[in-house]
Amino acid sequence: MKDYIEVDEWKIIEEGFNPHHNKVSESIFSLGNGRMGQRANFEEAYSGETLQGNYIAGVYYPDKTRVGWWKNGYPEYFAKVLNAANWVGIDIHIENEQLDLAKCEVITFRRELNMQAGYLKRNFTAKTASGKIVEVEAIRFCSMVDDEAGAIKYTITPLNFSESLTITPFIDGDVVNKDSNYDEKFWDEIKKESWNDGGFLQMRTKKTGFEVATGMLISVLQNNAPVKLNTQAVTKEKYIAAKFKLQTTEGQSITIIKYAANLSSQNYAAADLLIKLKETLVRISKKGFEAMLQEQAAAWAEKWKMNDIIIEGDVSAQQAIRFNIFQLNQTYTGEDDRLNIGPKGFTGEKYGGSTYWDTEAYCVPFYLSTADQKVTKNLLLYRYKQLGKAIENAKLLGFNNGAALYPMVTMDGTECHNEWEITFEEIHRNGAIAYAIFNYVRYTADEAYLADYGLEVLIAIARFWSQRVNWSADKQQYVMLGVTGPNEYENNVNNNWYTSTLATWCMKYTMEVVAMVKTADSAKYAALVAKISFKEAEETARFKDIVAKMYYPYDGKQQVFLQQDGYLDKEQILVKDLPAVDRPINQKWSWDRILRSCYIKQADVLQGIYFFEDQYDLETIRRNFDFYEPRTVHESSLSPCVHAILAAKLGDEARAYEFYLRTARLDLDDYNNDTEDGCHITSMAGTWMSVIEGFGGMRVIDGKLSFQPFLPAKWQSFSFHIGFRGTILNIKVSKNGVQIKNLSGTETSVLVYDKEQTVKANDELLVEA
Ligand code: BGC
Repeated sequence: MKDYIEVDEWKIIEEGFNPHHNKVSESIFSLGNGRMGQRANFEEAYSGETLQGNYIAGVYYPDKTRVGWWKNGYPEYFAKVLNAANWVGIDIHIENEQLDLAKCEVITFRRELNMQAGYLKRNFTAKTASGKIVEVEAIRFCSMVDDEAGAIKYTITPLNFSESLTITPFIDGDVVNKDSNYDEKFWDEIKKESWNDGGFLQMRTKKTGFEVATGMLISVLQNNAPVKLNTQAVTKEKYIAAKFKLQTTEGQSITIIKYAANLSSQNYAAADLLIKLKETLVRISKKGFEAMLQEQAAAWAEKWKMNDIIIEGDVSAQQAIRFNIFQLNQTYTGEDDRLNIGPKGFTGEKYGGSTYWDTEAYCVPFYLSTADQKVTKNLLLYRYKQLGKAIENAKLLGFNNGAALYPMVTMDGTECHNEWEITFEEIHRNGAIAYAIFNYVRYTADEAYLADYGLEVLIAIARFWSQRVNWSADKQQYVMLGVTGPNEYENNVNNNWYTSTLATWCMKYTMEVVAMVKTADSAKYAALVAKISFKEAEETARFKDIVAKMYYPYDGKQQVFLQQDGYLDKEQILVKDLPAVDRPINQKWSWDRILRSCYIKQADVLQGIYFFEDQYDLETIRRNFDFYEPRTVHESSLSPCVHAILAAKLGDEARAYEFYLRTARLDLDDYNNDTEDGCHITSMAGTWMSVIEGFGGMRVIDGKLSFQPFLPAKWQSFSFHIGFRGTILNIKVSKNGVQIKNLSGTETSVLVYDKEQTVKANDELLVEA
């Protein structure tokens, strides 16, 4: 845990330079625009601890799997999020001395992420080894308007000397992935050019053949007057630069504006990349840095209109929730159904792949309420388009008849995870995909989606579950053996309650949707039946039989659902009785010890209760919460949010708030000591859920929004916008009660504390506390 980020409503601020925090800050201060993004690496050289990272959405490399002991069914490759050309670099030499903060005395240092306007600003004053003092201000952003472009304004002022500066803006494609399995470099150079005012580099990924052209145009001002550039081209393999020398005068600044763009062959024919790149560079440089920055602020203002959560009375909580929302919007904008939300977004490499069950279980609710419904639809279509690969994946493991097992981790639909206990066994991810379809339709009422796409996915998933269970002659029930639940601190268990519950729910829901689609659009239904050879009577008979005769572990004494068979055989020492030196157990204990312990990594039974809350009475929820939470170490970032929502549901406001703080400031305070690898982007959607579904108590009930809000003791109020079926509501919870503003032109009704309230078009009402 760290505590160095300064508290501010709209900014993330680091004051003073601590090299030990640098990699953490590089993650926290990351920038992105859904299409590309990068860690907050310095523009000038830095020889200290750093993790260079520039990423282009959807551009990946299938790194050959490396495992000690090969198991049949393992995927051959692991798709890595690819570190791409570094376009932010501006090397500075003062005479022969390179500016490098690791070798300077850093006199002042401030890094600021302006979330309101969407840019990163860094100011420092540093003294070089030979005593030269410079002042630098660097502002940069990844444009939300031109999502293939970014820009940097780098101003350097000599404070105690008048000597020549050699300035080298560059693009460096000679980059590596820290997590490369065979220390291989993933890019080949295709071509490059240098121009007097910039240059470009075109690279191609090995194996996948993605081509990315990265270009820069530069302009320079000295003491605010344009400088006629006379640069020297520097080229080496995978590198271009435009180097120039300027005589400086003490106190007079030099400003380098670097316009950059990254274009990928995903969106253009490779042969056109250069032309399109030049067009982009010319277009943005004509606009100019200041105009781009203004556009950026306007684009973010538009996002914030719908996305912001305003918290009065707690600046730290305000900063945290905005940070989460900011990062989510930087990661995924929802226009492209080939893209998804990687757990680290554009902030790091760890985890590879871009899509986990995190998207369906955690991110979908955020995008459903804060963005146009096409954004969530695109997330669902991403999986729809990968159905063929999910069927192939299941086939590889021995399933048939069109059964689909979606990958644990993927880029393009191919499984790229390779630990048998997760790849083959953490199959609950399949259920989350079905649940997201249900959630989307429940929220939007877009039932046409079911006939067009959803049902096909649901049947394939239900087929998988129906083959994955087996009949136990002993129990005279169906069982599900050899699985890993969301709690990855238990592997290869039998009858994980969550997985079994989700499996039978999938089959029930599939049957409901079969009936719906058949009635609503019999022609489409018939076409689907033919396309996938669905033997309705026979297959649904099996689904029904499994639903009726499934075994779920239960402990009658404590009246709780059992996480899996045998869970109570474990030594039951609660987390509160674990010595602090043993935490986090995933860093302090052997895997063997973890597996034999009763400790739970993240919500497992409670994840199921969260999904299917309306099936359980409050006492059942309470008993299970009181049993499982004290055994949960919350070592996955996805854990606290589910607990916050359930604690809120149970009326335990203090605990709900405690869990909220833990999820909201997870990265800002480096709670799990791992933010240096990247931010926990997908769990940020969970933070949003903690506020909206936790403190706001928002649910969709029978096609209506329902709220059961409470105000955390420390807050004066909180408010947020929700988009729902064509209406936009602003909800404000304060000591006075719950104010609902209807910002749209149609009347709507919502439930507040279970009572229906009708709000006229463009009107508001207050439900008093
Ligand atoms: C969690 C998974 C999650 C993954 C990516 C793991 O630590 O246990 O549930 O899908 O991280 O966020």
